[in-house]
Amino acid sequence: MRQLRHLLSAADLDRETAVALLDTAASMAATQEREMKKLPTLRGRTVVNLFFEDSTRTRISFETAAKRLSADVINFAAKGSSVSKGESLKDTALTLQAMGADAVVVRHQASGAPHRLAHAGWVESAVVNAGDGTHQHPTQALLDAFTIRQHLVGAGDAGVGKDLAGLHVAIVGDVLHSRVARSNVDLLGTLGARVTLVAPPTLLPVGVETWRCDASYHLDEVIAEGRPDAIMMLRVQRERMGSAGGAASDGAPTSRPTTGFFPSPLEYTRAYGLDARRVAMLPEHAIVMHPGPMNRGLEISADAADSPRAVITEQVSNGVAVRMAVLYHLLAGERGAQ
Ligand code: CP
Repeated sequence: MRQLRHLLSAADLDRETAVALLDTAASMAATQEREMKKLPTLRGRTVVNLFFEDSTRTRISFETAAKRLSADVINFAAKGSSVSKGESLKDTALTLQAMGADAVVVRHQASGAPHRLAHAGWVESAVVNAGDGTHQHPTQALLDAFTIRQHLVGAGDAGVGKDLAGLHVAIVGDVLHSRVARSNVDLLGTLGARVTLVAPPTLLPVGVETWRCDASYHLDEVIAEGRPDAIMMLRVQRERMGSAGGAASDGAPTSRPTTGFFPSPLEYTRAYGLDARRVAMLPEHAIVMHPGPMNRGLEISADAADSPRAVITEQVSNGVAVRMAVLYHLLAGERGAQ
C-alpha cells in the first residue's frame, strides 16, 4: 500500500491503496459495533475541520471519526469566522498551522482549494479534501465503494481484500455540477466496476466522452438493458445553477421556470427521477444510493428513498468508518510515526 501524504482526489488512489483503505474501514466499522467505540490511536493529535461550504454528513462524520480515534478536534466554519471579514485562505491556513493542526479537513466552494492548501507550503499538516467545488469528494467515493462492496461483494467477509470487478453502477442526474460523480468515476473505475452516467445532455460535462465510463441520456434503457447492480442518484444542485431552480424549498417540483438545464422539474422527474416503478425494474439484488442531501420529489421519490433497496442511511454510517480509516492512514501510518 502506498503511503499518502494527503487525500485530495479519488484519482490519487491506486487499486491496492483503495482496497487497503476499504479493508481498514471494515476493521474500523467492526470496532464501532462494540460498546466502547473509542480507540486511543490518535491521542495527542489535532484534526481541524475547515468548512467554507455547508455540510451536514461530511462535517459531522469527520468530527465523529476523529473523536472515535481520540484526536482533538477543532471545528471551523467560515460563517462566523474572520473569513467573513475578508481573511484569505492563506492567512486562515497560517493560523491553523500556528495552532498545531496535524490534519486539516477542508471543504471549499472553489475547485482546487485543498490542492492549494496542501502544496503552497502554508501548512505542514495532512490535507483531506472534504469536497471542493464541482471537482472532487474522495471520501464520499470511498464510502460509496465501501457500501457497494459490503452489499454486493462477498457475503460473510463483506468483501474484505476484494475490489468491485464485474459490477455495473449507474450514476444518474446532475453530473455537470457533481464532485461525487467525478470522484466515483475515478474510484469505481480503479476498483474494476463499470460505470454508466445518465443525464440530460445539458447536465453532462463537455469532454465526458474522455472519462473512464459510458454515458447515456436514457434512464429506462440503462435500467432495462444495463441491469445495474447499484443505482446512485445525484442531487440536482440548484445552488450551482444560477437563479431559482424551480422547486419548492422541500425539493418538491413546482411549475416555476428552471434555469435552462431542463424544461421543468416535472419533466426532469419523469425522465431522470427514481420512483417505485423504476425501482421495480432494477435487478432484485440492486441497491439504491444517494450521497445526500436529497431533493425528495425531484431526483428521487419518497417511496424510492425509503424502499428496502435504499442504503442511503448506511452510506452515512459507513462514512464514519471510512473517515476513521483515512485519518488513521494519514496520521498513524509511516507519516504519523515520523
Ligand atoms: N454527501 C455530502 O457531502 O453531504 P453533506 O454536504 O451534507 O456533507
